[in-house]
Amino acid sequence: MDLLVVGGGGREHAIIKKLRENSKVGHIYALPGNGGIAADAECIAIDAKDIEAIASFAQEKHIDFAVVAPDDPLVLGAVDKLHALGIPCFGPESSAAMIEGSKSFAKELMKKYGIPTAGYTVITSYDDAKKYLQKAQYPLVIKADGLALGKGVFILEDQETALATAKRILVDKMFGASGEKIVIEEFLTGPEVSVLAFTDGNTIVPMVSSMDHKRALDGDAGLNTGGMGTVAPNPYYTDEIAQRCMEEIFLPTVQAMVKEGRPFKGCLYFGLMLTAKGPKVIEYNCRFGDPETQVVLPLLETDLLDIMMAVEEERLSQLEIKFKDGASCCVIMASEGYPQSYQTGYLITDNSPNDAIVYHAGTKLVDGQVLTAGGRVLGVTAIAHDLPTAITKAYDAVSKITFANAYYRHDIGQRALQALQNK
Ligand code: AMP
Ligand code: GLY
Repeated sequence: MDLLVVGGGGREHAIIKKLRENSKVGHIYALPGNGGIAADAECIAIDAKDIEAIASFAQEKHIDFAVVAPDDPLVLGAVDKLHALGIPCFGPESSAAMIEGSKSFAKELMKKYGIPTAGYTVITSYDDAKKYLQKAQYPLVIKADGLALGKGVFILEDQETALATAKRILVDKMFGASGEKIVIEEFLTGPEVSVLAFTDGNTIVPMVSSMDHKRALDGDAGLNTGGMGTVAPNPYYTDEIAQRCMEEIFLPTVQAMVKEGRPFKGCLYFGLMLTAKGPKVIEYNCRFGDPETQVVLPLLETDLLDIMMAVEEERLSQLEIKFKDGASCCVIMASEGYPQSYQTGYLITDNSPNDAIVYHAGTKLVDGQVLTAGGRVLGVTAIAHDLPTAITKAYDAVSKITFANAYYRHDIGQRALQALQNK
């Protein structure tokens, strides 16, 4: 079978490496891929947002199955377009991808179907924002409605900064059309858990839970990023909480999407906060998380392509999906300066041991050499029988990789270890 994977980050590298484990897989094309993916797939210089070019390429190459991984092409309708050409795909159609594409849609869905989430209001003008923010309780959270590369969420401590933020989004249009509306939310506290789940629209099968580390610097200081590292499983996510999430959040969400005429097929990502009042949804994503995928997929025992095909053919209930015991840790090696400005084009030297997996994110191949080409450069992952060993192995591998201006957090997994000790 010839496959096509849309995307070119660490998440896509993890998906491609896992798909390669299936002996039926022949050629894999990555659109656009990156410097490391080039070792596992043929990289084609087609932008992940260029839906027309993706569709013509898939047709020309007689692709048997396509995986659309990033949010933008999903929201823009890549799967709809491929389906129209008769090409089976993994990923939701755009009407279902709306669950990530519009935060106000997601909030209204949760309100309508009684799915626990932070209290909120949706606002479309700066005048209304002013009225609301003058009377509000702080801290509170302001979110741009549309996609914003993970940069559209602001936690505000006081009225002055909240007003300035609302103005930058609604008036100065810092996120363009993604900021035509804002969602203002109640500020929640508690440990965060990421749960990715396979769903075919009816059945939903959660994968092993994980914990992201979103801030740029050690000790959760610094700016929000796309994610600086992950561990799986997440020790806060007990069996009891998992069952509650299934009953109160996962099944109701899948059923709500069917009732809304937007059945969701693909990977549904639940960003959860375990508050004193129970688990609540912080965000939905219509796709695998990055870098959650880099710790979750190495623990998956069942064949990924078999699962993806079962999702597409709506027979997920017939499949048993198994995960390995043990734990995994992924440390992101980034370019100094990320998530703001940074320099690229530096040579990467990788002497990491074979038992670590080095997923490439922002890299490119130039004349046979792998160079840095993005903010998040590598996702260095290790799996082991327990979390402390996985963390040690991942950091050992990191210490054997060098490139100029490399930056990484030193405390990935420490909060999870503390939670394990307190159990
Ligand atoms: P997101 O980009 O939606 O994942 O949000 C980024 C981060 O902002 C989350 O991981 C949370 O840490 C934080 N956050 C988002 N919404 C809330 C909320 N209602 N209360 C507290 N923290 C939040
Ligand atoms: N790691 C968070 C995300 O993929 O959105």
